[in-house]
Amino acid sequence: MMGDSAVIVIEELNKHFRSGEAVTQVLRDINLQIDAGECIVLKGVSGSGKTTLLSIIAGMDRPSSGKVLVEGEPISKLPDLHISHFRARKIGMIFQHFNLFEHLTAFENVMIPLIPVGLKMDEVNQKVTSSLKLANIYHKAQSPAGRLSGGEKQRVAIARALASDPDIILCDEPTANLDRENSLKFIEILSQLHEMGKTIVVATHDPLFDELPFDSRMVPIEDGSLLDGRTENPSAKS
Ligand SMILES: Nc1ncnc2c1ncn2[C@@H]1O[C@H](COP(=O)(O)OP(=O)(O)OP(=O)(O)O)[C@@H](O)[C@H]1O
Ligand SMILES: [Mg+2]
Repeated sequence: MMGDSAVIVIEELNKHFRSGEAVTQVLRDINLQIDAGECIVLKGVSGSGKTTLLSIIAGMDRPSSGKVLVEGEPISKLPDLHISHFRARKIGMIFQHFNLFEHLTAFENVMIPLIPVGLKMDEVNQKVTSSLKLANIYHKAQSPAGRLSGGEKQRVAIARALASDPDIILCDEPTANLDRENSLKFIEILSQLHEMGKTIVVATHDPLFDELPFDSRMVPIEDGSLLDGRTENPSAKS
């Protein structure tokens, strides 16, 4: 199952960081097209450029050269304010360290990204409730995030990423702090999101993502270059 419209288009993307005289080239001539409903597994060792690439797709960092279109918007060229509104509506992000406010409840954490969207209070409540349920963590809604286990925190982070019902979900090393059981639960939720038609990009070096139980496309990244953006994941069953 797959739309034929590209949701993310990356053309001739380069990124370097400069500190004094030294220039570090982190992403090199990246070309990648991601269709609606695809799940991309961006696989590479530490330092290969995965987080940098996700940050640029999310508009949190800018390319040195090249073009990035997200749903047709040239996210790499938009003004900051426009980018943050666009991101709030279109993109959900899940991070390795969850990035929750530990003293706020699960419910409150999920509510936060909805604030700039400007909804009525009962709409906010309804969206928070449904995304906590989808992420299978509604039973902990009133617990402070700081008192949750790693797997539970991750599910709150998933709920937060889903709260604004984004078309695109970006995950950076989502299972790096989870045990095997919780990693498998994460993959189960990812599978549901895939079924809902979300476009998903997961940056990881976790071998569990080599054999996802749904269609996905493995995109290896090495030293800032994509090795073969067209390889299909041979183990995918659908
Ligand atoms: N702000 C920065 N300034 C200078 N160099 C940076 C900066 N951000 C990242 N880098 C360098 O870019 C390279 C790629 O970093 P990146 O975080 O994208 O890798 P990664 O694949 O996500 O690694 P990991 O698996 O460890 O998270 C690294 O060598 C890193 O040191
Ligand atoms: Mg990283």
